[in-house]
Formats: sequence, structure tokens, C-alpha cells
Amino acid sequence: LSSIRVDVSGVEPGTQLTVQWLGKPVFIRRRTEEEIAEANAVDLADLPDPIARNANIEGDAPATDPNRALSQGEGGNAEEWLVMMGVCTHLGCVPLGDGAGEFGGWFCPCHGSHYDTAGRIRRGPAPTNLPVPVAAFADETTIVLG
Ligand code: FES
Repeated sequence: LSSIRVDVSGVEPGTQLTVQWLGKPVFIRRRTEEEIAEANAVDLADLPDPIARNANIEGDAPATDPNRALSQGEGGNAEEWLVMMGVCTHLGCVPLGDGAGEFGGWFCPCHGSHYDTAGRIRRGPAPTNLPVPVAAFADETTIVLG
């Protein structure tokens, strides 16, 4: 009962979907090549939180872009999709998306936390990256959360 299936067939590159799961928003973004390139260009030493925070991989994995993205598996674009909880890691507001903030990703207006195109905290009071929940592609256009 805690798993849900999300149809992402209508999500174009450069747009995102917000779904409710376990009472919380989950952001599902289909990123552009530019967003992916921007995320990959970041020096990990510049990240306030160097941990991936991805429930699908080892807990101490570094916050590289591939470690944050949801792979479609063989044949799919490995870094196009980013799935994460839409809950600011500071005090739980819902960040604004679609390129908001100074790092082109998400911005939490409550106290000014800026997240980059991989959902990693870059500036502001939030202590950690937006967490990536347990998620997987069931088929080309369906993501299962949980
Ligand atoms: Fe997001 Fe405070 S709750 S910055």
C-alpha cells in the first residue's frame, strides 16, 4: 500500500511533476541536457552536503549527479530523471522548482535555501540535499515510488 505508480509519459524535458506520496510532495523532474551538464560540472568539494542522500544506493555514496538521478536502465538516459522529496531539509517547506534560486534548481522561500539542478543544497540554512526516495522505473513511462 505504500507504493504508488506514477505515469510520467506526459512529462517533457525541462518540466516536472509533483505527486503526493505518504502525505508528502515528491518532485519528479525530467531534466534538460543543460541541467544535467550543469550538475555534473560542480566540484564535489563545493557541496555543503557531499552525500548523495539516495535511498536506492549505499548510504555513504557521494553526491555526484549519477548518484542522484534515477536511471531508466539499459537504453534509457541515465541522468535525465530526478526524483526527490519536495520537502526542504531545513524546516520542511515545499521548495519552488523549475529553475528557481541562484543555482537553477529549487528555492525554498521560507528561509532562503538554494538547491541546484540535482537537488543538492548549495546555499542557505538547509543542512542536507533533498532526499531521493526508493524509486524505480517499472517500464519506460512508469515510475514506482516505494
Ligand atoms: Fe526551507 Fe527553512 S524551511 S529554508
